[in-house]
Amino acid sequence: MQQFRARILGAAAGGGLPQWNCGCENCRMARAGDIPAQTQSSLAVSANGTDWAILNASPDIRVQLAASPELHPTGLREMPLRSVLVTNGDIDHVAGLLTLREMQPFTLFATPGIHKVIAGNPVFAALNATVVTRAALALETPAEIAPGLTATLFAVPGKVPLYMEDGEVETALMGEQTVGVELTVGAARAFYIPGCARLDETLRARLTGAALVFFDGTLWRDDEMIAAGLGQKTGRRMGHMSMSGPSGSISAFDGLDVGRKVFVHMNNTNPVLRPDAPERAEAEAAGWIIGQDGLELTA
Ligand code: MLT
Ligand code: MN
Ligand code: ZN
Repeated sequence: MQQFRARILGAAAGGGLPQWNCGCENCRMARAGDIPAQTQSSLAVSANGTDWAILNASPDIRVQLAASPELHPTGLREMPLRSVLVTNGDIDHVAGLLTLREMQPFTLFATPGIHKVIAGNPVFAALNATVVTRAALALETPAEIAPGLTATLFAVPGKVPLYMEDGEVETALMGEQTVGVELTVGAARAFYIPGCARLDETLRARLTGAALVFFDGTLWRDDEMIAAGLGQKTGRRMGHMSMSGPSGSISAFDGLDVGRKVFVHMNNTNPVLRPDAPERAEAEAAGWIIGQDGLELTA
């Protein structure tokens, strides 16, 4: 039977929970085993449960695959993995490609702009071109990324990868550098948008009627990292809208007709990562599911 299936491989933003060099409350609790640890941003999707596509290849992909029986080898070198699609060139979304060398065939999907960033870094030649096909996906052009599963990329407000920032940075650019993914299996529509600087009317209209939306849950509050004494950057400066507040995602989704809404790509400072946090209760009361590693959903 064809049915949209998703498995959250990693629910955390870049750095993960705990992040190697972070002593914040959440990271300390995760190290102590008091709250669940979360690996970095990735989602596996399928229409038939046997052929899978991975959306974003995180640096944690090796342990994520080991923890996911659906994605284990089915023969000596046979894999259920058909493709990997990346939504931007950020390290948390492309570094895992290096783990996927070993002469394993799959298709790497991205916009021409993101492919250019990847091609500009010679280390990715480790993905041997004779077995890994690099397929450029133009915006707004559907493509089958696994049998029965269609993906359409669309621009969302975002910025260039941190390692390519130069001078004044436009944090809500619309173009090929940051995209959302619309996924369809038959009539079911799901969305994966792990990074988004703003939810405007065009995006709200596109999301209307979706069965399932995975959305950018990086920060609870725009100044969360500054308040925690961890740096000078706001969420906005990082190209991420926050969950709370009048211009936050919880409020932007209010009244929008979507089936289930799931936050993913949570930064380790986000209080919703603590099961007993009042902020988590507030998000859940607004109808949100807080994503976590291994969570499976269908639509
Ligand atoms: C982000 O989502 O803002 C980036 O992953 C940040 C980073 O590269 O660490
Ligand atoms: Mn990220
Ligand atoms: Zn931390």
